[in-house]
Amino acid sequence: MIESLIATIDRAARYTLGLDLPAARASLRQPVEAAIAKGPLNALEAAQEWAIDNGVYTDAVLRRGVRALLKTRLEELHKEYQPHNVECYVEAKRAFADQLRGLQELAILTDVANEQHYEVDTEFFRICLGKHMKYSCCLYPEGVRDLDDAERAMLELYCERAQIEDGMSIMELGCGWGSLSLFLAQKYPKSRVTGLSNSNSQREYIEAQAQARGLTNLTIITADINKWTATDTFDRVVSIEMFEHMKNYEMLFKKVASLLKNGDSRAFIHVFCHRDLPYHFQTGEAQSWMARYFFSGGTMPARDTFSYFSSSLALERDWAVNGTHYAKTSRAWLDRMDERKDECMPWLVRCYGSEAEAKKWFQRWRVFYIAVEELFAYNGGNEWFVGHYLFKKPSVE
Ligand SMILES: C[S@@+](CC[C@H](N)C(=O)[O-])C[C@H]1O[C@@H](n2cnc3c(N)ncnc32)[C@H](O)[C@@H]1O
Repeated sequence: MIESLIATIDRAARYTLGLDLPAARASLRQPVEAAIAKGPLNALEAAQEWAIDNGVYTDAVLRRGVRALLKTRLEELHKEYQPHNVECYVEAKRAFADQLRGLQELAILTDVANEQHYEVDTEFFRICLGKHMKYSCCLYPEGVRDLDDAERAMLELYCERAQIEDGMSIMELGCGWGSLSLFLAQKYPKSRVTGLSNSNSQREYIEAQAQARGLTNLTIITADINKWTATDTFDRVVSIEMFEHMKNYEMLFKKVASLLKNGDSRAFIHVFCHRDLPYHFQTGEAQSWMARYFFSGGTMPARDTFSYFSSSLALERDWAVNGTHYAKTSRAWLDRMDERKDECMPWLVRCYGSEAEAKKWFQRWRVFYIAVEELFAYNGGNEWFVGHYLFKKPSVE
């Protein structure tokens, strides 16, 4: 049974990839045996994972595979939401929002998600990301090609859309390695900027940068937003790609509203989203590679998901940023990682514990960046993209 399965995988690899796997056959035995013990479907998944981890697939094959999975995912979502049947569609959208609202916590699996990305060695991200260390979609207007410039273009757009002025107090939720918090503290010296994230290493990096740049108007808090309670209020609350880690937007919006001063204050949120069909990143199913290794507990909101949670925040304005901006961003991260592979490896060894694990994770990070690029490039960037939202506190009559 095992021999014939390995032979099938070998044959499939030769047909689909034009590759012979004789040397790999011995290494396949252990994962295939382990997978068979769990059930027949697992064997295929284990073989796929093994092929990914060992860099067997060419990029062209990986990209084709990701696009095929995205097509299947969309077909499943269409079955689930039945967008052609307006009554079912509206009910299903409402049910998704109710499900989020019914959860006891703001976010789930926060420790796993934190380990997957945010406690990975900062030096690894210094290699992949641009000089602002922006770990989110950047902006490539006409003429911008360089990642550093694209980071800056998006940071400037936030300032404009969030209507930020010098002297304001600003709270950033999910501040990452400080791309926006450091930028704001530098651009608006009379402002007081506070950033929050659940990662210690992010805080250490930002504090060192603030010190090196002589910035004294920036404070970084390390806390899980689930458990953190605010004591201050602000003119602006901003958040860039943190809400995708969250579930209960009702509770989250209440928290954001509690952070806003009365009067002219505003909250500006940047999330990635699907144009109309929201879903959870789920583990434990065939297409869940992304959820398992990179996005446990994550949510793909729809462009209009926030509109179901309007009791604490009133939407003033929204915008869409075409997904191709994210595709270019992720491609830039991939290219930088590939170009500086030798520099990357020691940090991956330090993070994942051994040479063998580091080699595996290098491949997984490659597939992650490729998958992000393909997701946001799908359908010309009009299927999955980035939403920007400006909220104010609802006026009390
Ligand atoms: C995709 S990164 C974006 C980082 C940054 N805003 C940027 O644009 O570069 C998401 C951020 O949200 C933070 N985050 C995720 N879940 C969190 C939680 N439960 N509590 C606090 N921060 C969280 C992560 O640590 C990380 O800083």
